[in-house]
Amino acid sequence: MRVLITGARGQLGRALVDLGRGQGWQLWAYDLPEFDLTDVGAVQEAVRTAQPEVIFNAAAFTAVDRAEEEPEAAFAVNARAVATLASVADEVGALLVHLSTDYVFDGQNSRPYREDDPPNPLSVYGRSKLEGEKAAARASKHLIVRTSWLFGRGWNFVEAIRKQLLGGARQLRVVADQFGRPTYAEDLAEALVRLVNAGAYGLFHVANTGETNWAGFAREIAAQLGFSVPVVDISTEEAGRPAPRPRYSVLDTAKFDSLGQPLPPWQEALARYLRATSR
Ligand SMILES: NC(=O)c1ccc[n+]([C@@H]2O[C@H](COP(=O)([O-])OP(=O)(O)OC[C@H]3O[C@@H](n4cnc5c(N)ncnc54)[C@H](OP(=O)(O)O)[C@@H]3O)[C@@H](O)[C@H]2O)c1
Repeated sequence: MRVLITGARGQLGRALVDLGRGQGWQLWAYDLPEFDLTDVGAVQEAVRTAQPEVIFNAAAFTAVDRAEEEPEAAFAVNARAVATLASVADEVGALLVHLSTDYVFDGQNSRPYREDDPPNPLSVYGRSKLEGEKAAARASKHLIVRTSWLFGRGWNFVEAIRKQLLGGARQLRVVADQFGRPTYAEDLAEALVRLVNAGAYGLFHVANTGETNWAGFAREIAAQLGFSVPVVDISTEEAGRPAPRPRYSVLDTAKFDSLGQPLPPWQEALARYLRATSR
């Protein structure tokens, strides 16, 4: 299969590149600095040269707090560049696989969010990703996958907790009033390939099984790393982050799960991640 991957050095991008090499794909893998998704000419040239059957857009402006200060930059990558990709995907007849986020929801639900629940993003990042979904949906062949709380090779929540623990922290103070589904980039990559191979189109929610809050996630990370450091629950207000975040953004993955089997529980995925990244 001829495959083009953007954001190839990001958490998901790396997992996709590894998976693709194992599956014998003909790969065109791009990322900053040599490839800028916001450069229309560069994107058109890359896609026209590769003539891919599938484009995985794993590139994004993912700095949720920084996006509040830099809305232009967030919209350029997360929305406008996706419109370019969608139009050039159509030109070469490629399937566009685009990633989105649980942060398109406002978190007011009391049950997991389905694909047809109305989005209402709270943050610049969430709004830019929702615009990106709309742009991707203009490609004749598109697959839009919302995921949540991603960890993979790169910088992520697990690494932030690990750093504090290895730095000798006596306690951790972590937000306990935001709920979601942690997801391992490798499991997500496999799920994307499963969807592509199944000929799926449209919008899907994909995440590892189970839900928690950030403090619960931190406790599991500490336990699996063998630390008995107490994790103190704090509120979103106490954390004082610049970007508003949904209180409850658990994704309902029933549509994806019905195609085969659900992704493994997040605790088991975390154990695999920690084994793969242990120093
Ligand atoms: N991380 C999460 O918790 C999370 C949750 C839900 C959904 N998602 C979505 O899942 C997808 C993958 O996320 P991820 O965590 O793998 O992201 P990531 O690790 O931040 O990787 C994104 C990659 O895109 C690159 N990139 C940024 N701007 C670019 C540009 N203008 N041109 C080309 N490449 C550019 C980044 O390069 P630099 O590092 O040099 O900027 C980075 O290598 C994204 O669509 C994200 O919105 C992520």
